[in-house]
Amino acid sequence: MLMNRGRLMLPGPTDGSAERRVPTERLHLIPEAARLSFVPWVSDLPGLKIGENDLTRIAPGRPQAEGEVIEISGHVFDEFGRPVRNTLVEIWNANKWGRYTHVKDPLRERLDPNFLGFGRTMTDDQGAYRFRTIRPGSYLARPDIGRWRPSHVHVSIRGGSARLIAQMYFEGDPNLARDPMFILLGDAQPRHFGQPAGQGVNGETLYRWDIVIGGRNTSYFES
Ligand SMILES: [Fe+2]
Repeated sequence: MLMNRGRLMLPGPTDGSAERRVPTERLHLIPEAARLSFVPWVSDLPGLKIGENDLTRIAPGRPQAEGEVIEISGHVFDEFGRPVRNTLVEIWNANKWGRYTHVKDPLRERLDPNFLGFGRTMTDDQGAYRFRTIRPGSYLARPDIGRWRPSHVHVSIRGGSARLIAQMYFEGDPNLARDPMFILLGDAQPRHFGQPAGQGVNGETLYRWDIVIGGRNTSYFES
């Protein structure tokens, strides 16, 4: 396959850890003909099981993870406010103590054997999604300068061959003011807060969060 020689991405000036988050190899452009032949990455997920949007238990009937149970629900909209249907939404967040269920999490905080740590669902015909998880703890992202990341939930949206990744934050978190990624959102900060929506029937704390892809009110994506 004939390849363009590619473009090298340079880390931005915004954050001392940026160089760890950009590709170090050259990016290659895919030839137009190959790109046009791409099919959606996910049009349906036959293996998707009920319960994969509940991170608070590793399996039905197992004990509930430690911490405050929260439910995050909302819609995925396009720039015209139309629902984005049948798209794969994935989330992952740290456990109560601020540790991820991931082998590369360098933190020495406790793992919770009952916390799944990541989940997925598909949006329905109205573009709606719903997750149950544990309110994430803050974690010390930069021990060298004592900087903690505010509580946040990572979310990934997949459609076509694209993947978009954003973060939901919790208003009032004292670590927001020093967080470079949150500061970068500028006047878009308010729409990255989960909106408190009372309590659910099982005592969980409810949040509403709509994700907008494109347009004036777009959510900000990292990829
Ligand atoms: Fe994180």
